[in-house]
Amino acid sequence: MTLLCENRVAIVTGAARGVGREHALLLAKHGAKVVVNDLGAAVDGTGADVSLAQQVADEIIAAGGEAIVNGDDVGSFDGAKNMVDQAINTFGQLDILVNNAGILRDRMLVNMTEEEWDSVIHVHLKGTFAPTRHAAAYWRAKSKESDGPVYGRVINTSSTSGIYGNVGQTNYGAAKAAIAAFTVIAARELGRLGVTVNAISPSAYTRMTDYLREYTEEEIEARDPRWVSPTVVYLASEEAGDITGRVIQAGAGMVAVCEGWRRGAEVEAMDDPVALGPKIREMVAKVRKNVGMDGFELD
Ligand SMILES: NC(=O)c1ccc[n+]([C@@H]2O[C@H](COP(=O)([O-])OP(=O)(O)OC[C@H]3O[C@@H](n4cnc5c(N)ncnc54)[C@H](O)[C@@H]3O)[C@@H](O)[C@H]2O)c1
Repeated sequence: MTLLCENRVAIVTGAARGVGREHALLLAKHGAKVVVNDLGAAVDGTGADVSLAQQVADEIIAAGGEAIVNGDDVGSFDGAKNMVDQAINTFGQLDILVNNAGILRDRMLVNMTEEEWDSVIHVHLKGTFAPTRHAAAYWRAKSKESDGPVYGRVINTSSTSGIYGNVGQTNYGAAKAAIAAFTVIAARELGRLGVTVNAISPSAYTRMTDYLREYTEEEIEARDPRWVSPTVVYLASEEAGDITGRVIQAGAGMVAVCEGWRRGAEVEAMDDPVALGPKIREMVAKVRKNVGMDGFELD
């Protein structure tokens, strides 16, 4: 078997269950030493229990791999630093960071509370920024020391909820769209260090999605997280060193590259809104429509 991440050191956040657990197991299978991070929260972000993360680490060790547990909150700046330091102090280096941890606090906008907004932004968006920020500082220092590029891979987790737009999730979708933007910008900043930054947009049957509707056995199998993780492991590999700033959908029967915002129709600037109005209407009618949750144009 070709090992894509042999002797690499990886952090996977939110790796106790669902998609993150599968990432951790597959990275380990491909030779990575893994820091299994998970606060052990309920789906709404409340509570804490590291025993599930310990089970994942035990599973990796039982299969002959190396793993440790970290129970920090990824949205805490100091907690994220502790997690990055723990990886480096235990395994001597950090090569791969998979930002996966997440929670849901769905609510229609008119009823959303400040706490529902803040908690989702904290775990997803700050929980992507904080670990990446500390990993990037480590890679920059390493690059200065060696006077050359380093091996660094960041794989973030976006969602169709953000990049395409899902009703009832202004908090979650805004965080996930921001993670896609963060990915593009961080890729541009860190490229010169040799670090790639990509994001996946998973589709999987987990506790985060199982309540949405009834799924058939076939649909559950097609949404098994094991269909998502191969994209992460490939993006973490040496071979994928030239892929950066991308958002890739994975799971539920497909892998698809998402295309980002781009400039559409345009007219010359005008200082009269009355004259500009019809021009804006002409342009809006001409350009491609926004897409629905399947990524295709709405009728
Ligand atoms: N399942 C899907 O179809 C789907 C779709 C789009 C995006 N996603 C994203 O994929 C990621 C994984 O989702 P999942 O479906 O596996 O959900 P999940 O609830 O099974 O797993 C999320 C994990 O994150 C952990 N976590 C929560 N807050 C944390 C914090 N502050 N610090 C550390 N860990 C924390 C939880 O304890 C949990 O184990 C999330 O970012 C989610 O938004 C999932």
